[in-house]
Amino acid sequence: MSKKTDIFEKRLAENIDELKWLFMELYDDEEAFEYFIDMLRRNYMERKDSLRNTDIKRSETPDWYHKGDMLGMMLYTECFGGDLNGVKEKLPYFKECGINYLHLMPLLDSPEGKSDGGYAVADFRKVRPDLGTMEDLEALSAACHRRGILLCLDFVLNHTSDEHEWAKAARAGDPVAQSKYFFYDDWTIPDQFQKTLPEVFPETAPGNYTYLDDCGKIVMTSFYPFQWDLNYSNPMVLNDMTDNLLYLANRGMDVIRLDAVPYIWKKLGTNCRNLPEVHSLVRIMNLSCRIVCPGVLLLGEVVMEPKEVVPYFGSPERPECDILYNVTTMCTIWHTLATRDVGLLRHQIDLLSGLPNNCLWQNYLRCHDDIGWGLDYNYLGWFGMGEAPHKKYLNDWFTGKWPGSPSRGELYNDSEILRDARLCGTTASLCGIEAALWEGDEEALARAIGADLMLHAWMLTLKGIPVLYSGDEIGMLNDYDYHNDPKKWADSRYIHRGNFRWDLAEKRNDGTSVASILFHELTRLGKIRKSNEVFHSDAYLYGFNTGDSRVLGVKREYNGQTLLGIFNFSNEYCRTEIESADWQDLTEPDRQYIRSDAPTTEYWLEPFGFRWFLK
Ligand code: GLC
Repeated sequence: MSKKTDIFEKRLAENIDELKWLFMELYDDEEAFEYFIDMLRRNYMERKDSLRNTDIKRSETPDWYHKGDMLGMMLYTECFGGDLNGVKEKLPYFKECGINYLHLMPLLDSPEGKSDGGYAVADFRKVRPDLGTMEDLEALSAACHRRGILLCLDFVLNHTSDEHEWAKAARAGDPVAQSKYFFYDDWTIPDQFQKTLPEVFPETAPGNYTYLDDCGKIVMTSFYPFQWDLNYSNPMVLNDMTDNLLYLANRGMDVIRLDAVPYIWKKLGTNCRNLPEVHSLVRIMNLSCRIVCPGVLLLGEVVMEPKEVVPYFGSPERPECDILYNVTTMCTIWHTLATRDVGLLRHQIDLLSGLPNNCLWQNYLRCHDDIGWGLDYNYLGWFGMGEAPHKKYLNDWFTGKWPGSPSRGELYNDSEILRDARLCGTTASLCGIEAALWEGDEEALARAIGADLMLHAWMLTLKGIPVLYSGDEIGMLNDYDYHNDPKKWADSRYIHRGNFRWDLAEKRNDGTSVASILFHELTRLGKIRKSNEVFHSDAYLYGFNTGDSRVLGVKREYNGQTLLGIFNFSNEYCRTEIESADWQDLTEPDRQYIRSDAPTTEYWLEPFGFRWFLK
C-alpha cells in the first residue's frame, strides 16, 4: 500500500465505527454505506498533493484557526471584482485591509432572475459563466494561499435550483430523480405538513410547497418556489451531496459554509427545523472532511433562536460545525444601539462565556442577509419588553421612523399577520452616516462615524473570528438601485448588495473622507488586534458592571494578560468605573490613564467612545 492510501485508511479506521453507526441509524442500508466509503476514497485520491500537505500540517496544530490573527471579509465576486480573475487582481487590497480569510458569496451556476443571490444552484460543479470557470476558482484559491488568505465558499445543501439536472429529470417524470425531492400528486400530505411548518419568506415567497403546472405535481419549496428541497431521507442524496461538498473542498476551499443547515431533515408534525437527524447528517459531513480533507473547516449557517444554535457545535469529542455565525450577538448589538442599554448584550456575553473552546464563533455586524430580530425575549420580558412591540420599535428605529433616529434601513418580509418584519441596510446607513451626509450635518456625521467604529471595535473584541462585510471598511451606504430592477425589487436584501464603490476606496488615503477615516481606523484596530495575543479566540471573555447602563464593559483573559474593553453605546458622555490598574491604552497609546488609589477609577467616555486597556 502506498503512503498516500495508508493515510486515508488510517483516518477511515479511526472514524468508521461512528460513521457507520450514524449512517445505519439513518438509512440501514449497507450497500449505500459501501458506496459512501468508496466516494470518500475517490475524493481523497483526487485531492491534490499540495492540499493534502496542508491537511497534514493543520492536523498537527488542531487549533490553527483559533489564533487572534484571523480577520475575514465576505463579498460578492461580481460586485467586487466583476469576475473571479478580477478578484484575483485585487488581492493586494485585502492585504491592505489586513484580511486573511475571504468568503466569496455563492458563485456556482444559478439561473439569472431565479437565483436567490446564488443560493439556487443548478450545477455544483460549474462556476456561473459570467464569473469564470472552475479553473479560475482554483487559480484564485492558489493565489490566496500564496498570500496566506483562506478561502470560503458556500455549499447550498438544503435545496437545488429547479434547473438542476435532478430537478429537470424529476419534472420529466423520472421516479429516481423525484425521490431526491419531496414530490406529491395531491395536497393531502403537504397540507398536513403546512399545519406545523412556519414560512421562511412569508411575503416574498409564501407557503412551503409549489404546484408544478407542467407535470401536475407538488414539490416542497421552503424558500423560493424555484428552490426545491432535497430529501435527505434518501441515502443517494446524502451520498451525492457529500460528494459535491468534497469536490468543492478539492478545488482548494479552506472553509465550506453549510447554508441553511437546520432545514435539511423534514418530519410530519414538526416545524422541520433542527431535528435530531440534522445533527447526525452534519456530523457525518464533519467526519467525511476529517477523513478526506482534515484541513477544511465547516462553517454552519444556523439562523435560529439562541438555544438551537449552540448544539450545532456538537461536543468537543464529536464536533459538527467548526465555526458558527454568532447571529444572536449580532442582532443583540443592533438592539443595543437602538435602546442604548447594554443589559441584554452583557447577559448574552455571560451566557456564551461558559462554552468550551471548540465553540468558535464567526462574529459580524452585517452580512448579505437581513437582520432578523432573534433576541432573547424571555430576558427582555423581565424588563417589560414584549416581542411584537419591541420588534416594531427596532424596525421603526432602524428605518428612521422613530423620532430622533438617524438610521436609514428598509424592512424585509414585512407581514401584517406575523408582525415579524426583519431589517436590511448597510452598517454605515444604519449608524446614521447616510442621513448625516444627506443633511450636511457635520456633528451628526462625526457621531455616526463614531458609532460605526465603536460597533466594529466591539465586534473585534468578541471571542472568535471577526468578519467584515465588504464595503463596510469604506462606509458604503445603502444602494437604492435595486428598486429599479424587476429581478431584485421584491427583495430588499439587495439594498446592501450593491457594487463595490471603488471610487470611494480610491479615497482611502485622503485623510478626510468618510471612507478614509473608517478605513484607517478599522485597519489600525485590526493591526492592534493581530499583534496582541490577548485577542486569541480561546481567551476567557466576560462582562463587568461599568456603573452606567449605556456602557458595556468586558474583560478578556489570555496567557497571563488581561484586556479591559469599554464601549459607549450612547451619543452622550458617560462616566464609568473601571478597575484601577496600570493599564496601557492600546487604542491610543499617547492618551493618559490616571489611576486612583481606590479599587476603581473614574473614567469618562465620549459619545460612542471605546477603549482597549491592557495589563
Ligand atoms: C441562507 C442564505 C440566504 C438564502 C437562504 C436560502 O439563509 O444566507 O441568503 O436566501 O439560505 O438558500
